[in-house]
Amino acid sequence: MAPRPSRVLFVASECFPLIKTGGLADVIGALPLALSTEGFDAHVLLPAFPAVKAAAASRRKFADLEDLFGGSATIYKATSSNGLKLFLLDAPHLFDVEGNPYQGPDGKDRADNFRRFAALAYAGAELAAGNISDKFTADVLHAHDWQAGLTAAYLKAAGNTAVKTVFTIHNLAFQGLFPKAAFASLGLPATMFSPEGFEYWDQVSFLKAGIVYSDWVTTVSPTYAFEIQTDDGGMGLGGLLKSRNNKLSGIRNGIDTLIWDPASDDALPHSFSARALAGKAKNKAALQREFGLEENPDAPLFCVVSRLTEQKGLDLLAGAIPHIAGNGGQLAVLGSGEKSLEGVFQNAAIKYKGAVGVRIGYDEPLAHRLQAGADAIFVPSRFEPCGLTQLCALRYGTVPIVARVGGLADTIVDANEAALMAGAGNGVQFSPVNFDMLTGAIDRFFSLYRDPAVFAALRQRAMKQDVSWALPAKDYASIYTRLKSAAA
Ligand code: ADP
Ligand code: GLC
Repeated sequence: MAPRPSRVLFVASECFPLIKTGGLADVIGALPLALSTEGFDAHVLLPAFPAVKAAAASRRKFADLEDLFGGSATIYKATSSNGLKLFLLDAPHLFDVEGNPYQGPDGKDRADNFRRFAALAYAGAELAAGNISDKFTADVLHAHDWQAGLTAAYLKAAGNTAVKTVFTIHNLAFQGLFPKAAFASLGLPATMFSPEGFEYWDQVSFLKAGIVYSDWVTTVSPTYAFEIQTDDGGMGLGGLLKSRNNKLSGIRNGIDTLIWDPASDDALPHSFSARALAGKAKNKAALQREFGLEENPDAPLFCVVSRLTEQKGLDLLAGAIPHIAGNGGQLAVLGSGEKSLEGVFQNAAIKYKGAVGVRIGYDEPLAHRLQAGADAIFVPSRFEPCGLTQLCALRYGTVPIVARVGGLADTIVDANEAALMAGAGNGVQFSPVNFDMLTGAIDRFFSLYRDPAVFAALRQRAMKQDVSWALPAKDYASIYTRLKSAAA
């Protein structure tokens, strides 16, 4: 009998298309499928939030857990609409909350988050170790972000070294910090609450636990892997990450190129491809109508699809709106987040009627229409672990204008004069991230746009770039294989 393929268990709190607040969900919804091409049998353990249960209606019971952090729980097996193999952790006392998975209706983090996500990690560790059912064990447990940060700690506390552990940091800004009183309810050895463990200045840090106890740590781009080892980018964990850089690597994200395919995207009024761009021009006209912008095929149309937070640098962009509108440009914004920033963009839409349009909210099909209809997308982030919207933009022939940080630095090649001479460049980069450099980048985009031959070539290069998971999945696969063979 052929040996069974190596099995990987992802543990995460979000997964597209079941539940999503950001790029983490996109990664969890796509990477496991790409890993199967590499010969891995990948599964995902997710909390069974109401939205998840609604989306995975045909689930089968896998196992019962009598007591999981104060209540009974059931693990179900299900398959997502795009073919992911799921384990759903149904623990109503922890996860039966509508809306945002981390925050209450007041917009504040839920007080019992430490218990909710400790339970997810514990269940993940037990499932991978084969302690929940002898029908499933994993060779590799791959945990994502602070919500799954304790998985390796639970395996370690149980003395399990058979399951190899990988921890991916999607965003160092979210560290899963809790008061030290939370530690007692985690069921972990007291020695772990120490500076060598996952104490962080007298608090409990779930992210630190992932870094300290996992066999390997990755983050979502090579440049971000470097940045997080510095004082500036390390957000208080730079020294720790530097001291562990022999087990740290950066692998850029991909996007699901079946979902993001302009030739077959159901969300678009008109399909198109690199060879047949007429549909893109029609999508632009439709987008101008939808956002109340002047229907002018020659006006450069910029867009934003983003969380509106400090990280994303959109306050700088708001300041540049007079410059964009004053030079004949248009801006369509889709986003939600900080109320003050939402207000700034809404006011700009009133002041620059016909040149600026804004939709506050979260709207997946609209994100596709923006990517398809715009000429350029802004991603002026102060830091960006990887960023996915610039990858979607490349695939849709929309030129990214990005800050030279993190994964934006790794995926965008600045179309400066030297690059253009060499037939390279797929976007515009600026650095440092400030207002002057951003307006400079906007001006450079205007001149690229106004030279049709140059712009057409730029767009073609963007659309030809490989933004899929094929290469990154190979990098993850080789980490799994290395960890397994080191153990053998
Ligand atoms: P982050 O995870 O930091 O928010 P990413 O670029 O990695 O940034 O991923 C963001 C994901 O969320 C992308 O799939 C993007 O299209 C989507 N997105 C962000 N804001 C919105 C919105 N307002 N409506 C629809 N999709 C959005
Ligand atoms: C985080 C980061 C983003 C990254 C995403 C998926 O939300 O902010 O840069 O693309 O995770 O890894």
